[in-house]
Amino acid sequence: MCGIVGAVAQRDVAEILVEGLRRLEYRGYDSAGVAVINNNELSRTRRLGKVQELAKALESNPLNGGTGIAHTRWATHGEPSERNAHPHQSQGDIAVVHNGIIENHQKLRETLQGLGYEFVSDTDTEVICHLVHHELKTSDSLLTAVQATVKQLEGAYGTVVIDRRDSERMIVARSGSPLVIGYGLGENFVASDQLALLPVTRSFAFLEEGDVAEITRREVKIFDVEGTQVEREVKESEVTHDAGDKGEYRHYMLKEIYEQPMALARTIEGRIANQQVLDSAFGVNAEQFLKDIKHVQIIACGTSYHAAMTARYWLEDWAGVSCNVEIASEFRYRKSHLFPNSLLVTISQSGETADTLAALRLAKEMGYKATMTICNAPGSSLVRESDMSYLMKAGAEIGVASTKAFTVQLAGLLMLTAVIGRHNGMSEQMQADICTSLASMPAKVEQALSLDDEIAALAEDFADKHHSLFLGRGDQYPIAMEGALKLKEISYIHAEAYASGELKHGPLALIDADMPVIVVAPNNELLEKLKSNVEEVRARGGLMYVFADKDAEFASDDTMKVIPVPHCDDFMAPLIYTIPLQLLSYHVALIKGTDVDQPRNLAKSVTVE
Ligand code: G6P
Repeated sequence: MCGIVGAVAQRDVAEILVEGLRRLEYRGYDSAGVAVINNNELSRTRRLGKVQELAKALESNPLNGGTGIAHTRWATHGEPSERNAHPHQSQGDIAVVHNGIIENHQKLRETLQGLGYEFVSDTDTEVICHLVHHELKTSDSLLTAVQATVKQLEGAYGTVVIDRRDSERMIVARSGSPLVIGYGLGENFVASDQLALLPVTRSFAFLEEGDVAEITRREVKIFDVEGTQVEREVKESEVTHDAGDKGEYRHYMLKEIYEQPMALARTIEGRIANQQVLDSAFGVNAEQFLKDIKHVQIIACGTSYHAAMTARYWLEDWAGVSCNVEIASEFRYRKSHLFPNSLLVTISQSGETADTLAALRLAKEMGYKATMTICNAPGSSLVRESDMSYLMKAGAEIGVASTKAFTVQLAGLLMLTAVIGRHNGMSEQMQADICTSLASMPAKVEQALSLDDEIAALAEDFADKHHSLFLGRGDQYPIAMEGALKLKEISYIHAEAYASGELKHGPLALIDADMPVIVVAPNNELLEKLKSNVEEVRARGGLMYVFADKDAEFASDDTMKVIPVPHCDDFMAPLIYTIPLQLLSYHVALIKGTDVDQPRNLAKSVTVE
């Protein structure tokens, strides 16, 4: 979703800004722009499409200047176009970039039009620049004008404002959309994600909700929602991954699929001792919070929601607690029942998903006993606002379609199952078995990755298909859902997932030779049931692709291709069966020639509702 980069320096900043935007490309966007101040003049270049288009335009017409802002836009108000791309301007004086949605923009627009301001875009953002311009008429500084402006905004914003008449300053404000300040030597920066600034600094301070900051080359002053000057802790970035580097891989997605053994090893490291998962994996005070938990409510979106659905089977089957799972955008707008001793768990790779964050805030108001997030972004809003956090340590995930974050979430949730289980009488043997399973996951994923060539060949069959059906049972049902999501996200083939017991209640009507059916079939207690469902499809002339344990005794024939998956225990089976489905979607997308890492219309981090 939208990305922001800003800089105040002695050197020309346009290149730094564009490199920052490149590093945010993975979030998904439709247009990009940059504005800089040079000799008290504001110049701006914007382009529809990729950051590369903007970079090309800047090559032919470079922008000089030491103060500048840049943005990648993901359209909310107004179509993707150069006219709607940020930065927006007021009277050639003020330039603004903005992430989020200004909900009262229509009313503000009318007021500002009444004051004589002419609007040239369809965006909600344009009200911010005119408001700042208007407020400056009665304010003594850009800072106070922005403070007065944000008081009038309803909705979510992360915004950066510059004024050509006051050229060595940026004012930034955060409410609902993250902003991080990067501290350099004699130069300072701001961005919506620290990844954007890693080439220029590793020292960062995250702004809190309601903060407004004034950034010059030499100084950063931060004011809280009351206008009181405050300190925000400056930390050295823990992000080690160089987001700009695809290494030997053709796409980030493939790289991230192959990083899974390493990411799993990292997430497990130091969190298991004496065949038990340590409570401290979930934070310093976790034991105190977790020991009386009897019910778990999990909230997430997208791929993270599928991890949550898998964990529901585990928590109820093995940990002896009840568990509900809900999509964040549903949970936040309905009245739900609070069970005694309930733990609220959010799952999110980005830690900034607007719906998930709103659901967490609602849960806190409702009085959940404790809140926890399973999250891949250490300084994110979800981590900061939750009582406990499990930091995934998967490394930055750049491909919009989530891969390694998903399997690492599963590993974290299995650990949570073991810990909550221990407090609810899980046997020592089962805890030890879970630990053994966790420790052998990296090697087992390596084995599953060796299916790559076989799956690449199989992918050819899908290239001319328009629809597909994924089937699974038990904790493989959410894996089927995740497989379907991956395929539709990056290959644009319509894919649906069903719990295979539901086949007879509708989807059987769709079965024919043009509708490939993908089945995940580990050798577990539901295998015989699943085999009956396979026969139901076969009897209707369906073409199946069965990912099965070699002991599951499926045989390839005219109607069925069997892909043998390494034998694995029940604890890791959902994670292992995910791997071939990720590879399948990747190879189908390659054949179809889609933009694998940045699929159309999608964003990596969804910071608006
Ligand atoms: C977007 C991303 C998905 C992700 C979902 C939830 O849709 O494209 O990959 O699963 O958001 O994001 P979160 O950061 O909360 O896990």
